[in-house]
Amino acid sequence: MNWQIAIDGPSGAGKSTIAKLLAKKLGFVYVDTGAMYRAITLKALNLKIDLEDESKYDFLEETVIKFDGDQIYLDGKDVTEEIRSLEVTNNVSLVSKYKSVREHLVSMQRKIALDSNIVMDGRDIGTVVLKDANLKIYLDATLEERAKRRRDERIAKGQEVSSIEETIEELKIRDHKDSTRLISPLRKAE
Ligand code: DC
Repeated sequence: MNWQIAIDGPSGAGKSTIAKLLAKKLGFVYVDTGAMYRAITLKALNLKIDLEDESKYDFLEETVIKFDGDQIYLDGKDVTEEIRSLEVTNNVSLVSKYKSVREHLVSMQRKIALDSNIVMDGRDIGTVVLKDANLKIYLDATLEERAKRRRDERIAKGQEVSSIEETIEELKIRDHKDSTRLISPLRKAE
């Protein structure tokens, strides 16, 4: 079996930074599962479906998500920047709570893991996606530090930013949604 390293934790804890460094050092493939949930959210927004109606997510089967290094492609289009927009960020927790969305992406993630040694980060990697991972890491940081990083990241990309206080509130809302949803909530693996 290939090597599997799972990194879970809330947003802004530093998962993707650590995961990328680790993958580079070990020569493993890095898989950002949050980017996949973001890509589906972007597509749902572009299609202007009612995000609250799970039956409208019937586009999943015909949706193609591909990684190429640090770039992510949605149906052949590079959406690496677009999936980080505030609109996607504010809606991704809603979209990622649906069973159909999760089942579809978890199955894609497991398929990717069959092909190579990987470092995969997300919320449910050690608990659901790769339950038998060789190494499971739960990464966290203080709310203030996470908010500061998220904000700096947006400033560096020239994106719209809110104040530190507002960013903390946004993170709190997302943390709450991600850790209280019914299916695969964010939690530490045993
Ligand atoms: O890691 P991120 O902030 O880019 O993730 C975006 C959202 O996707 C996050 O708020 C919750 C969801 N997500 C998830 O439900 N399961 C994962 N494995 C990864 C992300």
